[in-house]
Amino acid sequence: MNIIDTIFDAFHRNGDALYDGGEAVTQSQHALQAAHLTEQEGKPATLIAASLLHDYGHVSDESEDSVDREADGRHELVGSRILEEHFIPAVTEPGKLHVAAKRYLCATESDYFATLSPVSVRSLELQGGPFTDVQARAFEENPHYADAVQLRRYDERAKDPEMITPDFEHFRPHLEAGLKSDA
Ligand SMILES: [Fe+2]
Ligand SMILES: [Fe+2]
Repeated sequence: MNIIDTIFDAFHRNGDALYDGGEAVTQSQHALQAAHLTEQEGKPATLIAASLLHDYGHVSDESEDSVDREADGRHELVGSRILEEHFIPAVTEPGKLHVAAKRYLCATESDYFATLSPVSVRSLELQGGPFTDVQARAFEENPHYADAVQLRRYDERAKDPEMITPDFEHFRPHLEAGLKSDA
């Protein structure tokens, strides 16, 4: 199976669990909504792919052993480690940084914390809480920081039980656009 089929298969088999164990949408709905919101705003294919895959660490068979859903299983690192083998950094880095982006936004935007769901507030504590000023400035030096923050805003909105989205196949070309040439 190629990597895109493997990913879609994992979502179809493991994506029906509720997102982050308590949100109003499933993992698959959450991924599709994040990608759909990114596409609706006319963002590049690679960022659309990044949004679709940002929580892949929660559904991949490979991450089963390493993601502990009670403690902070660092799902963003588990997912990106699997994906980095196949996709370019423009696809994998914003997802790898999506937890850091939450900690960054909590530190730098006074009204951002109020937009977090209760599940997200709880996981923030496990993830280390808001960044300090020094951590926030360092994060801004990351070349993928702006994409990571943008993805995070879609992530926050992708929890709507009523949203209608395209299916996974619709996003195959976006994923193909982000494949490494030697993969
Ligand atoms: Fe996440
Ligand atoms: Fe997410």
